[in-house]
Amino acid sequence: MATDELKALEGQALAHLQQCADEAALREWSTKYLGEKGLWKAAFGKMNSLPKDQKAAFGQEANRVKTVLTEAYEKKRAEVKERELQASLTTNPLDVTLPGRPRPRGRLHPATQILREVYAIFADLGFQVYRTREVETDEMNFEFLNMPAHHPARDMWDTFFTTIPRVVLRTHTSPGQIHVMKEAAGKPIRVILPGMCYRNEAISTRSEIQFYQVEGLVVGEGVTMADLKGTITAFARRMFGPERQVRIRSSYFPFTEPSIEVDIDWPKEDPNRDRLTKGTGWLEIMGAGMVHPNVLRAGGYDPEKVTGFAFGMGPQRMLMLAHAIDDIRLFWQNDLRFLKQF
Ligand code: PHE
Repeated sequence: MATDELKALEGQALAHLQQCADEAALREWSTKYLGEKGLWKAAFGKMNSLPKDQKAAFGQEANRVKTVLTEAYEKKRAEVKERELQASLTTNPLDVTLPGRPRPRGRLHPATQILREVYAIFADLGFQVYRTREVETDEMNFEFLNMPAHHPARDMWDTFFTTIPRVVLRTHTSPGQIHVMKEAAGKPIRVILPGMCYRNEAISTRSEIQFYQVEGLVVGEGVTMADLKGTITAFARRMFGPERQVRIRSSYFPFTEPSIEVDIDWPKEDPNRDRLTKGTGWLEIMGAGMVHPNVLRAGGYDPEKVTGFAFGMGPQRMLMLAHAIDDIRLFWQNDLRFLKQF
């Protein structure tokens, strides 16, 4: 009987399957019995040579054997897999209770944070941000700002000179005023000019050789000191609190006339108030004034037709005040214990 051969194949295959202990042996088994060139296929091929009346029974039996073998194979494969998993769990146990390694999160430098706060406030007041270079000519840093060579006011800024004659590291952001005016070429201006400045000073808790300034410049017809006061007051109240009072004192800068310095009253609740304000209750936050006619002329504007105001402030100093930071050197030391507090 041809079907006996199928039965024999079934018995042989199942017995063999029991001996397969790993995936590799199972793969071999599957090729040998169920593969394209395997034994089952070969046995099935014999159907063609059978007499007609036996074909149907043989075909049915062949299919039954195939199903049995396939199911037995799948079952065995699941067993082997499970056994391999259990083995790997016990020989190489994975402790899922171990805490992970946290990845440190980056953050913005406090100086960047305070600059962005300043930008946001002035953006709401309609100011654009304009950047200019940190290496300047003597002409830009001093002369066009109404300080000719040998002008004693140059002593207000201890300058870093480069090896190129008459090229300096800017001591303030004010030369940016000239750049903006030249580019705006007579059109009205309302910008802030943030950036790094450099001064050749002895480094101490109160002074650094590099620090940020934010300059402001507004030029147009009919711009007055009242506009300057309004702008500064709006800024101070957004920055330091809505109850802040602003006090304006007369001062001197070569590039503004009249020149002022701006104080705010420091909150009475702050226990550092006396120390910060040296007992006066007032704290200086910026220098400012109406743009000097010579400066407008140097920028290509006619002081008979337009006026302007300018201001300059040190945002890092503001941060120091707000957070009672008593050492400016902390800013550029990159000590994470300091930086992480912001
Ligand atoms: N440039 C001045 C300084 O460095 C600040 C300032 C800017 C004053 C604009 C008046 C107008 O101290």
